Amino acid sequence: MTLKILGTGSGLPEKIVTNDDLAQIMETSDEWISSRTGIKKRHISVTETTTDLAIAASKNALEMSGVSVDDIDLIIVGTISPEYFYPSCACQIQAALGATKAVAFDVSAACSGFLFGLNTAYAYFQAGIFKKALIVGAENLSKMMDWNDRSTCVLFGDGAGAAIVEAVEDTTDGGVLSITMGSDGASGLNLVCKNRPINNPFSPCEEPLSYTSMNGQEVYKFAVRTVPKAINEVLEKAGKTPEDVDVYLLHQANMRIIESVAKRMGQPLEKFPMNLMDYANTSAASVPLLLDYANRKGMLKKGDTILLAGFGGGLTWGAALLTW
Ligand code: UT7
Repeated sequence: MTLKILGTGSGLPEKIVTNDDLAQIMETSDEWISSRTGIKKRHISVTETTTDLAIAASKNALEMSGVSVDDIDLIIVGTISPEYFYPSCACQIQAALGATKAVAFDVSAACSGFLFGLNTAYAYFQAGIFKKALIVGAENLSKMMDWNDRSTCVLFGDGAGAAIVEAVEDTTDGGVLSITMGSDGASGLNLVCKNRPINNPFSPCEEPLSYTSMNGQEVYKFAVRTVPKAINEVLEKAGKTPEDVDVYLLHQANMRIIESVAKRMGQPLEKFPMNLMDYANTSAASVPLLLDYANRKGMLKKGDTILLAGFGGGLTWGAALLTW
């Protein structure tokens, strides 16, 4: 038993903020941001919540898949920026869509959130527990940024991506060939946003709200080391080579990371579509947004071998190899 993707969708805030717009409100420049990262602009929420974006992406994915919402038995959302501690973003999507039959929960794996969700659904499918799932990556990262810290706030954007997936017997008509995920909690504080501190009558706390902080160079080194390893692992499991992959869809953090991975894999950059120029780093939303972008642009042909890979906070990583 394996997992096949039936439809994809995106949800993006209306407001677009360019690098030049940012240069008006802080000490930065289009030259610095685009030469270090490739990012030119990003969508930033003014009114749209994480759940609003997730619902929009889910509706688009459902529409493309032709699957009835009544048949969805599992909803998993990768997010680090939900509105509530509870109810989960997944439970709110369930309510908005009327997916009454579904079990719904969030996973916290930052930029690997969509891959962790996909891997979880794959395991449930293999165990014969569920048959059709909605997997979402959704973020409102702009509210997690210190807008006085130019070294982080220029890198991230808001958005959501979704996929409808189904359990299938084999990969004859498309499906996952191999999948992996991993964590390195010992390096976790290189990319961090603290939750509420201890605060009660016995230990009152005046600590201000915490925002995202990142040791960019350590995360960069982690990414260029770990992503090729994860890719090689799924290739080996499936008996494939880097040349066999038609399209590599990597987490959109930084163009230089993607260039470095392409070089390490000995593959032309043309096989690595990018949308980070327009969306920046949207954490868990990044891989499904890119998947939907490539899908709707007709870049994914039936029978193609596609590689998905995410990496980031935790630290975490995940990769999946599939036939389209
Ligand atoms: O999804 C999570 C995964 N995250 C990542 O993949 C991020 C990985 N890391 C990176 O992509 C890079 O480390 C960054 C793009 C974040 C930073 O690039 P860098 O080449 O490592 O730059 P840096 O942090 O060493 O900063 C270089 C300089 C500093 O100035 P000094 O100290 O050399 O004078 C910074 O103050 O650039 C300065 N700087 C800026 N200048 C203009 C930092 N941010 C900015 C900015 N505009 N926005």
